[in-house]
Amino acid sequence: MVRYTTAGESHGRAILSIIEGVPAGLNLQADDIDAELARRQLGYGRGGRMQIERDEVNIISGVRHCRTLGSPIGLMIRNRDWVNWREAMSPGPGMAEQVVRPRPGHADLAGHYKYGHTDLRNVLERASARDTAARVAAGAVAMILLRELGIWIVGCVRSVGSVQSSGFPDDWLDSTPEEMHDYWRSREREHPLRCPDEAAEKRMIDLIDTCRAEGDTLGGVVEVVAAGAPPGLGSYAQWSDRLDGRLARALMSIPGIKAVEIGDGISGAAARGSQVHDPIVPGEAGSSPHRTSNNAGGLEGGVSNGCEIRMRAGMKPIATLGKPLPSIDLSTGESLPAHHERADVCAVPAAGVVAEAVVALELAAAVTERFGGDRLDHLLRGLRGWEEELR
Ligand SMILES: Cc1cc2nc3c(=O)[nH]c(=O)nc-3n(C[C@H](O)[C@H](O)[C@H](O)COP(=O)(O)O)c2cc1C
Repeated sequence: MVRYTTAGESHGRAILSIIEGVPAGLNLQADDIDAELARRQLGYGRGGRMQIERDEVNIISGVRHCRTLGSPIGLMIRNRDWVNWREAMSPGPGMAEQVVRPRPGHADLAGHYKYGHTDLRNVLERASARDTAARVAAGAVAMILLRELGIWIVGCVRSVGSVQSSGFPDDWLDSTPEEMHDYWRSREREHPLRCPDEAAEKRMIDLIDTCRAEGDTLGGVVEVVAAGAPPGLGSYAQWSDRLDGRLARALMSIPGIKAVEIGDGISGAAARGSQVHDPIVPGEAGSSPHRTSNNAGGLEGGVSNGCEIRMRAGMKPIATLGKPLPSIDLSTGESLPAHHERADVCAVPAAGVVAEAVVALELAAAVTERFGGDRLDHLLRGLRGWEEELR
């Protein structure tokens, strides 16, 4: 079963991920991972660091001659800014100015209590969202696997601050999941806010500019859709195996994400059952039944039901403010403005890319758990056999 772990500090030498359980025989190249890393670095509202970094992956293990071996895949992304932090972040002896004024909304004060650090750099270096690059790299491997299986993941920005967007157009279901994926991927090169609604996008950009000028920050909502996932992933038999819970946990674990919605979970809570549940109608002769709507977001009883899996995640405004909020100096107890570190004004588009990655990892885990994960040919055979049974 696919699983992964990450390591690394924001201004350390590099960040790392190790992804296990990827079947042998998958075509995997560094360029494909780099393309996902570049998407994470795009997005209107990002801070100065994105100009410095330009992430590139080094595949350290688990791949030979562009094919996965079935062994753990080690990925390393160097932090280009490390040259400026050698002394401050040295694993050996070194000196650096201490960070002592915790930022409200960041991990600084909670991390001080947890690990006893008085220099809050020891907290923020790992709590920083830099780690999401390692998750996007691992997620890229999962996405490449899912594409081989006909499962395509797309995402968009549904709101920034109070500006709402209409989301993906309804007629997109006329195209195949692959066509839809390719279209949205190419569109985001010209629309780095990743919002499908151009009028809303313009208002979002204006709002980000206003907040930047005022030293303030913004959050928003992202949507992720997984198309082509077979029915039967996850399980209701044990609470921890429910796919809705696993996806929600993965999304909620992204720094700054404070709410997760599956399908129309929030608006559905205020509606009647007859308006919410998706009627089941017979399929064409001999084929499996259909749904006339998908308010459930493709998950019932914690199991995929064959419809698109639809999720949303709400991100709070960035905690590092240009005009810092009141805080204290931990070493003296004196009231002072919070620490300021170079930061994004709005990271919602980037959080959407991270959300796609963690969803891909969770679905790759569920697919390999269901159909086996040693060899790609066996996995494909298992999946095709199941699709045949459903016809
Ligand atoms: C892609 C991305 C970029 C982020 N950039 C920043 C940033 O520049 N400054 C900041 O204070 N928080 C940023 N955050 C959010 C913080 O990492 C997060 O709020 C912090 O780690 C505390 O965790 P919590 O909000 O989940 O409680 C970013 C989050 C993501 C997903």
